[in-house]
Parts: sequence; structure tokens; C-alpha cells
Amino acid sequence: ADDGYRLWLKYDLIKDVAKREEYARSCQFIAVSNQSPILKSAADELQMGLQGLLGKSIPIVASAGSRTGGVLLTVSKDASADPQQLTQEGYRITSRTTINIASKSDKGILYGVFALLRQVQMGQPIANLSLNSNPKIRYRLLNHWDNTNGTIERGYAGESLWKWYELPATVDPRYRDYARANASIGINGTVVNNVNASARFLTAEYLEKVAALANVFRAYGIRVYLSVYFPAPKTIGGLKTADPLDPEVRKWWADKTNEIYKLIPDFGGFLVKANSEGEPGPQDYGRTHADGANMLAEALTPYDGIVMWRAFVYKADPKADRFKAAHEEFTPLDGKFDKKVIIQVKNGPIDFQPREPFSPLFGNMPKTPLSMEFQITQEYTGFATHWVYEAPIFKECLESDTYIKGKVEASPEPTLGKFVVRGKDLPVDPSTVARVIDGSLHGYKMTAIAGVANTGSDRNWTGNPMAQANWYAYGRLAWDHTLSSEAIANEWIKMTLTSEPKAVKTIANLMLKSREIYVDYNTPIGLSRPWSGVHFAPEPWQEKSARPDWTAIYYHRADSIGLGFDRTATGSNALAQYRPEVQKQWNNPETCPLPYLLWFHHVPWTKKLSSGRTLWDELCTRFYTGADSVRWMQQQWAQVKPAIDPEIFADVTGRLATQHKEAIWWRDSWILYLQTYSKQPIPAPFPKPE
Ligand code: GCU
Repeated sequence: ADDGYRLWLKYDLIKDVAKREEYARSCQFIAVSNQSPILKSAADELQMGLQGLLGKSIPIVASAGSRTGGVLLTVSKDASADPQQLTQEGYRITSRTTINIASKSDKGILYGVFALLRQVQMGQPIANLSLNSNPKIRYRLLNHWDNTNGTIERGYAGESLWKWYELPATVDPRYRDYARANASIGINGTVVNNVNASARFLTAEYLEKVAALANVFRAYGIRVYLSVYFPAPKTIGGLKTADPLDPEVRKWWADKTNEIYKLIPDFGGFLVKANSEGEPGPQDYGRTHADGANMLAEALTPYDGIVMWRAFVYKADPKADRFKAAHEEFTPLDGKFDKKVIIQVKNGPIDFQPREPFSPLFGNMPKTPLSMEFQITQEYTGFATHWVYEAPIFKECLESDTYIKGKVEASPEPTLGKFVVRGKDLPVDPSTVARVIDGSLHGYKMTAIAGVANTGSDRNWTGNPMAQANWYAYGRLAWDHTLSSEAIANEWIKMTLTSEPKAVKTIANLMLKSREIYVDYNTPIGLSRPWSGVHFAPEPWQEKSARPDWTAIYYHRADSIGLGFDRTATGSNALAQYRPEVQKQWNNPETCPLPYLLWFHHVPWTKKLSSGRTLWDELCTRFYTGADSVRWMQQQWAQVKPAIDPEIFADVTGRLATQHKEAIWWRDSWILYLQTYSKQPIPAPFPKPE
């Protein structure tokens, strides 16, 4: 039985003998002239993968000589011979008499090898290949919110993968499999500890442990980064202050950075959560985010490392609109950051809700590189129990138009596949969020993307086997954000679960619908954050909390008149942070698309919506159909049983049963609570809550 450990890198024997032989004819040897650690990883992976898929052991040789019918791994630094312009980590696969995987770097070869294996795993032809692929974003990272004691903040798949107590002397072989999985989807960096960082990670004791991890990851092109606790110079350095403008503090960071690079020569840099949710930061000393970030950038100046400074900030002020905080604090600092600094922005302005509008920082910091922070771990999407495929969440944000370049319309000539600015002839793409973060819109020199990891010590890595798809999809989109959610789902299913066509279709359909279903029973029509303390159970009635702005009512604003947060000019006016065209989409409650309605408007219970139903009836309809759709998911899943490994089938079946129970729980909590304000009956044909 399959316990899920091998993820999408299963390499099971291809059943079709003719196909196997066809592949085998093109893969009779692997030629690689030099054995750098990364090239060795690449050749070994290809050998292992082909051994499994084709049932043949394929020799690795130093040179092909005059032989054909094999795979050549060729690193060529010669850019002049490169009309198609491969970037540093890009690869090209061409096949005629031999299959040639070429790149300017060892890393590119590794990515090319995984691409070739993917072709074979998916049963695609490998003859006459001509594939060119460049990553659209340079730094493609996972962020682990892992603590020194092995727990993971918002982790639902067991404990940390990093066995801190055993490291550095004992190095779990699993670290290598983690690196292989990441390299296979193009991830090239990992922040190993929680953004709510312990200063202990910067002590010699922990740095040695981190260095042991780095030693494993290096051979897979993955650099290690650390989250830092801003006042570390005080807590572990014995200084009186952590003021970023204090010379002693600056020296402390410079010395600490030198110490890190002695242990980890390819260290990637620092991630910082500062003056956010109670974490200390430069503002404690009357300094700005830029002062703090630039100090760390200075410490990194001798090295090839970067600072990722998070924009997830807001004050504990129940009168303010948290939505606006990041834009208010960061846009005045545009252009004030060192060139080694990138600002890491969550996709939405609040906090990884099941649906958020895109953060208004995107497009509004033209002089400062911004990176994207997605959350792969399902903090607000049902932990590892509910089945939610996240690619559509990521894509929805990436494809949002910031309208920085004004209104851009689809070209009347469909063959161009391009867009034209109204009134001009120049073909140009709309100014999407994706084009902000891939650097093409503002010409950022540095580009990055981060995903908060959903991995843990569970044997199958992600708790829910279906959540492996979210790790996979994140990596694929980090490499190429133009891939579709559907294409990624199909790849993942075929490599991970089954290639039986009907089952692939059924599962892909389930995946693609799963997010909307979740939103319907959880937070429909733009509702947000009705969560209990652990962010799992519904608690829409919560009016008191550790912080005055951490109540449910602060977010959903239910009252006797209606529901939703007025963010137009009559309310917090957060909408003013967007370009006029974006405002136009959302600021009229009559025309605002329903998925965003309650994000921006306080809507009366009996108001007729564009769906033809009143707000109240629409809410009830969503909650009931959402919960009911989980039953549909269960039925659909039952149909694929013959095509799925029994262990995985049973696991997912169990999780879906829980999901259904909990969907009803969400539905009923919301409806019964909101009914105390709306005073409306449950519309036909829906039964009373259970
Ligand atoms: C969320 C999450 C926290 C996390 C924070 C962050 O609020 O609940 O656990 O620390 O985001 O991203 O910093």
C-alpha cells in the first residue's frame, strides 16, 4: 500500500510495456561530464527515476562519445550561443538522436531532469522535444513556521521535520527527500524557522544545527534562510538596546552575519516580522521599517544574501481598519530600502482568509521590490481535514489587475493573445499582481515568492494526502505563474494518484471546485474571520478577545440593519488605496461582484442582490449548498475507489466525512447567529439547522 511518503515522485513501473520500451530506447545512458554535488543529485535522480519507471538500470557515464540514444546533461556558460535566452536557472530540453538537457547552471540541469522525469511520469512523448523553461521569479521559497521545541505554528501535519534535538550529529535521511521534493518543483530556498522567531536560532548551538540542514539541501540547489528576532542583540547579545541606528547594534548584526556565513557559506539571508502582532521592531526605538531592514542589509553587504521584511503589520486598534495598515505604513517608505531588501506581502490585506481581495500594496511600491507570501498550510481553510485545492486561491490573486497601467483591454485580434492599451497600439499585458512580483511591471531587480509550508513529520508530509497538491501547486506557480490550476492538478494527480483517465477527470473536477465549496459553507459573499482562537472552529458571536481587534464582530460587522464591513467613503475608505478602476469594480454595492460584496459593503438583510435573492436568502443558499456539496464530494470520491491506493482512499474518505460534519457545523453556527440580527426565516427549500 502507498503511505504517501513518495509524494509525486513515485516512479512506479509504467504498465504499458510498449511505452516503457519506447522510453528506454531514448534513455540508454546518462552522460554528465562533471560531478558537482548538484549535478550528481541530478544524475542520481534521473537514474533512480528511470530505474523505477522503466524497470531498467541505466548507467551514468562521463561522456557519450559517439553514442546516441541517451540523456546528456550539459552545463554551458556560453550565453552568446543562446538565442533563446535561458536565464541562470532555466533549462532547455531538446531531443533528436539524444536527449540534451542544457542550462547555464547546475541547478538548471537539476530542474531540467525533473521536467524530463515529469514527462515520462505523465506518459508524454520524449522524442522531438523542444522545451525551454525559465523561472519567472528568482527566489522561490518555503517559509516554515517551526519552533525550537519542534512544534509548528499553524502546522497540521505533525511536528517539525527538523529534529533539533538530534541535529547536528544525527541527520535524518528524510531531509534529503524534502530537498528532492522541493527541487522537483523548482523551490530554491527555505526559511527553516517561525517568523515569530526565537533568538535561540541565532546562537552558536542552533546555527550548527541549521548548518547541518544546509549541508543536505545544498546538493539540491536549496539555500537556507533564518527568521530573526529583532531584539536579538539584547536577548542573546547582552546589549542594552536593539536600536537599528546604534553602532554597537549594527556591529552585533555584522558580526553575527559573519559567524553565520562561516558555517553556511551560501546562507540565503533573513526574514523579519517586526512591529507586528506584538513582535518587537525598529518602531520601538522611534525608527522605521526601512531603518531596521537597511541595518540587516548592511550586515549582509559582503555576501550574496537578502533581507525579506514582512509587511504584515497592524495595530490593536478596534477603531482602525486593519485592512489599511500595511499600505499606510509602507507606501511612505517606497524607495527608502536598501537594494538587498524585498518587502514580503501577504496576498490579501487581512490574513490568508479563504477569499480576500488582493493587497493594495501591490502596484503601489514601484521603487521597492515586493514579494508574495501565500499560505500553503490551511490555517483558515480547514487545517489538514478539509480538502481545499489552493491553486485557484493563488491564481485569483496573481491574476488580479492592479490597473497601475490604466485600463487595458483584450486585443480584438485573438491570435495575438495579447492585450492593448485603449487608444494605443502597443501590445501590453494588464498590470496584474503577478507582473508586480515577477518584476516585469516596475522593473524590480529582485523578485521573490514565499509559501508558508504545510509539511510536517507525518509520514505523508501534509496530513491530508490531498494537501500535497498545494505544496506542489505552489512550487509550480512560483516557477511559472501562467500555468493553470487545472494543468497543475492534472500533473499532480497523474504523478501521485492515478493515470486512469476517468478518475483523473473526477479528481481534477473535485479539486477545482473544492475552494468555492469551502468558501460557500465557511465565509460566503466576502465574509471574513469568524474564527475561534485556534482558527478552526466557527465563532461568529465572539465579541471579546485578548485584543480588541481580534473579535469576530470586528470583521463581519453584523447588526440589526445588515452585514459586512463598509470600506467605501462612508466607512473606512480602504478602497481609496486602490486605483480608480479597481475602486470602480468594488465600490458600488449594486455592481460589486458577490464574492467581494461583504468585504466592502454593509448590506441590509433584505437588500436584493444581483443573484435575485435578498442578502439573507443568498447567505442561507450558500451555506446550505456549500455544506451539501461536501456530500457531493464524498460521492464523487467514492467513484474513484478502484483507481486509488486503498490506504490513501480510506484516509481521504475519513477526512471527507469529518469535513461534511464540520461544514454543517459552520453553516449552522453562522445561520443561527446571524438570524438573531436578521430576524428572517430560513428560506425554502432548506430545512432548519440541525
Ligand atoms: C497569522 C497567524 C499567526 C502568524 C501571523 C503571521 O495571524 O495566525 O500564527 O504568526 O499570521 O503571519 O505573522
